[in-house]
Amino acid sequence: MKFEWKEDYALGDSSVDSEHQYLFELANLIIDSPTNDALINNVMRLYKHAREHFQTEEKLMQAQGYPTNKQHIASHNRMLASLVSKSESIQEGTWNKEQVIEFMTQWIAHITSDDWQFKNYLANRIPA
Ligand SMILES: [Fe+2]
Ligand SMILES: [Fe+2]
Repeated sequence: MKFEWKEDYALGDSSVDSEHQYLFELANLIIDSPTNDALINNVMRLYKHAREHFQTEEKLMQAQGYPTNKQHIASHNRMLASLVSKSESIQEGTWNKEQVIEFMTQWIAHITSDDWQFKNYLANRIPA
């Protein structure tokens, strides 16, 4: 299975959208990892990217005065924690592709729910 970015996922902010796109590329790299070492390396890249991306989004939400960002940040933190526990499974050689798919499904759901709520907030806000 390959993860595919869709235009439908776009929020309209170029940094956020290109970071979301890169997330899909990394997920495909993980799926195609030829060795366990490559898998560990690619998951580390995903973790680093996730952390940077969440910071981009959280700064943007703060700068735009987004009122319910605490819940959104909590969701980011849950995904980071889930990646850390998955990294531990990989070290033990017990992480499989189904879990990558499960993680990506969780993240895509985050994009189309939490991230989109922010998108709707930006679209509906009265210009200052
Ligand atoms: Fe996001
Ligand atoms: Fe988010």
